[in-house]
Amino acid sequence: MIELKTLNKIYNKGKSNAFHALKDIDFTVSQGEMVAIMGPSGAGKSTLMHVIGTVDSFENGVYLFQGKNVGLMSEKRKAALRAKKIGFVLQDFGLISDETALSNVMTPLFFGKARLRDMKAKALQALKAVGIENLAKKKVKNLSGGQKQRVAIARAIVSDPVLLLADEPTGALDTKTSAEIMDIFANLHQKGKTILIVTHNDEVAAQCERTVQIVDGKIIE
Ligand SMILES: Nc1ncnc2c1ncn2[C@@H]1O[C@H](COP(=O)(O)OP(=O)(O)OP(=O)(O)O)[C@@H](O)[C@H]1O
Ligand SMILES: [Mg+2]
Repeated sequence: MIELKTLNKIYNKGKSNAFHALKDIDFTVSQGEMVAIMGPSGAGKSTLMHVIGTVDSFENGVYLFQGKNVGLMSEKRKAALRAKKIGFVLQDFGLISDETALSNVMTPLFFGKARLRDMKAKALQALKAVGIENLAKKKVKNLSGGQKQRVAIARAIVSDPVLLLADEPTGALDTKTSAEIMDIFANLHQKGKTILIVTHNDEVAAQCERTVQIVDGKIIE
């Protein structure tokens, strides 16, 4: 489903502060796989997720998403691809804290043309899938860390994407809540989702089918 071939990412290319963040990356992920991405801080894990999520550009090499060449896509096409096929779970949750859980989860649906009523139903279904439909009307700022992480996952799955990208989804959570969040991912994996999880935690990685190590911008399998 995802194929990266000798892909390179250089921040601030051509400037004095240029930084070679991904070096000759070869990386393939099959449909339905659950993969952990590990490595030291600054190694390039988030950069890799951003490139795979099509929000960051890359310099050379090839990126194929379901056989389609991402490097040749316009920004508009990439935005459409993201909206339909990719769900992001961010470490800092990326939620709007003054809005309710429900309206946060509904946000990605505004990209499409569904009716408000249908969007609400879908968002409630996603909140139910992560076990917090009872918190739909609560503002995100009044939720706990684990609850916020669930809202972030609900938002990532509300459009029923084929690929889920999670950047340290349990980084800010205690052991018990982490295990609960990992159960949600395991469940989504069982339902056929392809999942990439960046983590510093060996227990989280152990729950994935395989682990990829990144060190200094290079993948060491
Ligand atoms: N916008 C940017 N401009 C320049 N350099 C950047 C930019 N974003 C990241 N970098 C650099 O690229 C390298 C990889 O960053 P990245 O965020 O991918 O690391 P990471 O593996 O996710 O680390 P962490 O575990 O701390 O989250 C770092 O050295 C970082 O300083
Ligand atoms: Mg990171």
